[in-house]
Amino acid sequence: MITHKITILPGDGIGPEVIAEALKVMHAVGRQFEVKFDTIEALVGAIAIDSCGDPFPKETETLCKGADAILFGAIGDPKYDNDPSAKVRPEQGLLRMRKALGLYANIRPVKTYPALQKNSPIKEEIIEGTDFIVFRELTGGIYFGQPSQIHEDGQSAIDTCTYTIDEIRRIAKRAFTASQDRNKKLTLVDKANVLATSQLWRKVVQNMAADYPDVSVETMFVDNAAMQLILNPSQFDVILTENMFGDIITDEASVITGSIGLMPSASIGDSVGLYEPIHGSYPQAAGLNKANPMATILSMAMMLEHSFKMKEASESVHRAVEEALESGKVTEDINPDNPLTTEEVGNAIAASITSTTLA
Ligand code: IPM
Ligand code: MG
Repeated sequence: MITHKITILPGDGIGPEVIAEALKVMHAVGRQFEVKFDTIEALVGAIAIDSCGDPFPKETETLCKGADAILFGAIGDPKYDNDPSAKVRPEQGLLRMRKALGLYANIRPVKTYPALQKNSPIKEEIIEGTDFIVFRELTGGIYFGQPSQIHEDGQSAIDTCTYTIDEIRRIAKRAFTASQDRNKKLTLVDKANVLATSQLWRKVVQNMAADYPDVSVETMFVDNAAMQLILNPSQFDVILTENMFGDIITDEASVITGSIGLMPSASIGDSVGLYEPIHGSYPQAAGLNKANPMATILSMAMMLEHSFKMKEASESVHRAVEEALESGKVTEDINPDNPLTTEEVGNAIAASITSTTLA
């Protein structure tokens, strides 16, 4: 039997609870598709700081590098948010992990589910048919540029945004390829009317367009894109953008789906891939068995597809999630009046995988 080695990083807040449900579903997939998943847990985030003073310990790095894939819960703890002077912060663990593992492409699919259209704060007729993917660059730009510091006198601060042609090309290539498998429309979101880095992005992407004649490329300034996402989200197919813009517009895009608890993501590079929900650690709900596990379960489905090429298995997880949504087996974020628990939702999805008959 094929065995896949997966490093599990439950992380902080609701991370451990949503990960537990994703693992339940993953093992149901394993039984159904006769694949073995070997898992090993490691520490990251606030919980790692508490245990050894480092949000991304060496041991975790080694376990990540040795894995076939990484499944990650959430990071962050309010005790650090309220202390801007804290020397170590959980989020540093996430950023170091992305860099150390070379995870330069963050893929965030955004789609509406018919059963959930009424949950979106945006009118149903506007969001209907929305189905796009954001390719967010993840290891460059203002998140990593140097210098980045508050000046000694405390009177000024600097962050630096840099991009190289190679950094742009490698993620653009993935976005172009993904477009070819979809509706062949690529939107580069930038701020080329102001920023030199954006001008470089445009140049590189427009040059590459010649190699993908079947893909139509358009460019859009990020401020306009922020507006278009709410006005007419179904116009998008593949969005390609840099790190910071991608961070912001994917949170914005998550409201379209009706709950941030539904948005998965994959972070990939040239070796091991990492899969995580886009939501945070939701500390208010930690330990209460009420967080939505679907984004983590769907992230696990992305792992099946991207890292293990198990497309059919991945589709069966998507179907099981849709079934749960349609039959109202959902957590509080979706149905505050009559919610199921995190565990019950996980059980329902796992059971529906197990009852799938293979073609
Ligand atoms: C995300 C998060 C992270 C980011 C934070 C936690 C550092 O917001 O994955 O979108 O800004 O990249
Ligand atoms: Mg974010």
